[in-house]
Amino acid sequence: MVLYYSATGNTEFIAKQIADRLDDQCVNLLERIRTGDMTPIRSRKPFVICSPIYVCEMPKFLAEYLEQVKLTGNRKVYFVFTSGGYAGIGGALAKRLVKKKEKVYMGHAEFKMPRNYLLSERYPMLSAEENKARIQSSYERIPDVVERIRNRRRLRAKHIFLLELLVTLPFHPVWTKYMHTARPFHATNKCVGCGKCERMCPLNNIVMLYNKPAWKQNCAHCMACIENCPVDAIEYGERTQGMERYRISKYIKRFTGDLEWKDKK
Ligand SMILES: Cc1cc2nc3c(=O)[nH]c(=O)nc-3n(C[C@H](O)[C@H](O)[C@H](O)COP(=O)(O)O)c2cc1C
Repeated sequence: MVLYYSATGNTEFIAKQIADRLDDQCVNLLERIRTGDMTPIRSRKPFVICSPIYVCEMPKFLAEYLEQVKLTGNRKVYFVFTSGGYAGIGGALAKRLVKKKEKVYMGHAEFKMPRNYLLSERYPMLSAEENKARIQSSYERIPDVVERIRNRRRLRAKHIFLLELLVTLPFHPVWTKYMHTARPFHATNKCVGCGKCERMCPLNNIVMLYNKPAWKQNCAHCMACIENCPVDAIEYGERTQGMERYRISKYIKRFTGDLEWKDKK
């Protein structure tokens, strides 16, 4: 069974491609995370858990969910990460999580996908050409990863050295605590009150007040709200004004089967 969380579609695309080729079930964990649904998940085939990388690891809310939910049936667990180029210590922490659950860690794969974090000056958003090139080259690597999973072979990604682990480990909690504030998020008068942002927030951090979203304090900066707004009505202070929003569905037509580009990009 393929399980995934995805804010802007990169991970969803990879997860659905893998499930399609393995002829396996694909489950979006968003609703389960939002509602705290801890119903055990049973799979006859190995688990393949797909996650984006947030500040060098998998998102905390996903790690916490996976720690708590019971995975029954098959004992093997694979991880697949999508990132903007640096998956950090995601693999090492995934291995620790799987061992804690007394399952068998089968390694992880990393896919370099378009960046989706609108707020970084150091890692700016990429051009449409670069996004397309990244999607294309990740798509071409999928059969190899699928073949290894199908044959129950371990996945191998870049080795994480102890020094890298020790240096990076404190980075995520400190950065997210001080930098991931929701305060500057606001909806402009383009907002049509559709509530999509509220439904896509994995932390239930958005509430609709008088038909407009309001943000509480518990934000993972996943970008689901701002990138998926159908009318681009969400801004982060003045920083995001005039910036092109990213979601993979602007580029590709279907999430399974052959890669088909939308004409626009
Ligand atoms: C809060 C946040 C932090 C991120 N941190 C990293 C990072 O440390 N390294 C990296 O390469 N990409 C990073 N990214 C980029 C995403 O991992 C990447 O774009 C991913 O494919 C998004 O997946 P999704 O479309 O399934 O949400 C970050 C994105 C967000 C929203």
